[in-house]
Formats: sequence, C-alpha cells, structure tokens
Amino acid sequence: MEGFDLSFGRGLKPSFDAAPPQYRRCIDGVDYLHLKGRQSGDLYITRDGWPVASSILPERWFTGDQFSKPGQALAGATGAVYRVPVAHPVRSNFALVVKFSRFGQDVGLTVVGRDLHGDADFMARVEHAEFLPPFAEFGNLMRLRRQCRGHFFTKAPLAIYSPPTRYLAWQLGRKNHLQSTYSRRLLASQTPHDEQGPIEYEWERIYILLYRWMGGVDAEQAYHGGIISNTQMTSWTHHIADTLRQLGWVVLDHKPRHLIVRPRKGIRQPLMRKGSPVIGLVDYELLYPTC
Ligand SMILES: Nc1ncnc2c1ncn2[C@@H]1O[C@H](COP(=O)(O)OP(=O)(O)OP(=O)(O)O)[C@@H](O)[C@H]1O
Ligand SMILES: [Mg+2]
Repeated sequence: MEGFDLSFGRGLKPSFDAAPPQYRRCIDGVDYLHLKGRQSGDLYITRDGWPVASSILPERWFTGDQFSKPGQALAGATGAVYRVPVAHPVRSNFALVVKFSRFGQDVGLTVVGRDLHGDADFMARVEHAEFLPPFAEFGNLMRLRRQCRGHFFTKAPLAIYSPPTRYLAWQLGRKNHLQSTYSRRLLASQTPHDEQGPIEYEWERIYILLYRWMGGVDAEQAYHGGIISNTQMTSWTHHIADTLRQLGWVVLDHKPRHLIVRPRKGIRQPLMRKGSPVIGLVDYELLYPTC
C-alpha cells in the first residue's frame, strides 16, 4: 500500500495554502501538492482535489495494476477511462473519472463532423495531433475553466497519480522521439525550482488523471434515449465548437459524445436554463489553444 500522508507528518491535514512549501508545485499555471507514496508513487493533488483528498487516495480505487473498486468502463471510450464511485464524507453519489493518459501514443484520430472546422489549417493540425501530456492537459483545462463560465461546464481536475511500477517502452507504446520535446516543455512550464529540482516525466511510468464525475449522459446517448432530437444533438455540438473557438480553443476530435446533457427527473427532456441547454464538455486530451 502506498500510504500517502495527507498531514505531512503533522497529524492534521492542513489547508492547501498552509501545506509546507517543499510539497508545493506550480506546473503550467496549476497549483499542486506533491505527495510521495511509501512505494515511490507520486500523487499531485490540485486545489479542487485537496478538499476531497481522502476520497481520491489511490488505495481507495487502485491496487497495483487493477482497480480495487469495481470501476465501470465508460461506453464509447477508445482509451482506458472509468467511472469509479468512492466514499465521500457528505456526498453519497460522489464518483471519480479515472483516465489513463495516452500521451506519447498514436492518436489515430477519427474526426467526426469535418464540417465543424473543415479548413486546411485545422486538418493539418489533426494530422499531427498528439495526446497532451498530463500536466499540459490540466494546464489547458484550468485556463479554459476560467473562461467558459456561463457557456458550458467542465470536469474538475482533482489529481494526477503515477504508480511506481515501471514498464518497457514498447509496453506503453510511447513514441520515443516525443520524450525530449515533452521533457523540455514540462521544464519550461515550471516556476524556478527549489532544491528538490523540477518534476520530470518518467517515460517508463504511467500517469492517471483523476477528474470529478459530472453526471448526465452524453449527447449521443441522450439522442438514442429520446431525450434530445437529432437536430439538437448536431446544433449543440456545433455551438460548443463555435464557443470554444471564440474562447481561443479547439478540441481536435470534437463530437457529440464529448457533450454531457442532464436529463430532467422523470421526463425525457434535457435540463435547460434560461432557454439554453445545460451542457458539460468532457475529454481534454486533445484540447489545444487555437494559436
Ligand atoms: N464526467 C462525465 N460525466 C458523464 N459522462 C462522462 C464523463 N466523462 C466521460 N463520460 C463518458 O465517457 C465517455 C468516454 O470518455 P472520454 O471521451 O474521456 O474517453 P476517450 O477514451 O478519450 O474517448 P474518445 O476516444 O471517444 O475521445 C464519454 O464519451 C462520455 O460518454
Ligand atoms: Mg478522447
């Protein structure tokens, strides 16, 4: 068991800002508390994750290579992504999205709805698309979260966990030529380092992103379940793509499955607010700034 100590040896869990400075990190504009496990795993907890830190500790949901809790693999995912219910002191329906980062692996994109952004420039970006490394994914998402209020919701990023297990490069399918690029970018995205040195990606280890479960069903499921019409599914997908672009972002594989709608209780209708649908956006592994 990794046994992360949320009290930093003091017996009482401090507030995020009262944690000892040597545990604090700022990577790509995101604040983390970096905890080292007894078996040398690394857990980086964000400000959003800290209040629920005891619910997201790996021992609650991960033992070695497998889930200790019955995680539900999410339908429609091409990667490894699970919904895992975990105990929470107050909320009975609290759940995590556990997503294994695919950075460095082949993207093999199927771009649904090329008409969404069919220009040559966009297609060139798709052709050379790479899954974002974990700290860059959280960095981009945090910037987007500051801009998208009033437009759509996003999942709160809670933590990044890297178990101590090491794999051979071919087992993870990572493209070796990307290693130095990602190392350089990660170094550049950190503030001047203290005596502990900067955080570096370890190419032989996996990285697991933890998000808060948002609740709802994706727009494709909502359409098949008779909750929204085909027209709504298509126009909302376009609308969110347009909004993202106006805010300076693009999701290279944007599609209805990345939109989450909230079915209303007891009736087959989506939750609306002031005449507009309440929409969440999931999946940020290909969320890039437009310039
Ligand atoms: N927070 C959430 N709330 C509700 N549903 C979710 C949430 N997160 C993910 N899902 C569902 O899980 C599916 C898979 O998640 P995600 O898109 O992150 O995986 P992926 O492996 O990257 O899939 P893809 O290759 O299609 O992009 C989503 O399409 C959506 O249906
Ligand atoms: Mg994806």
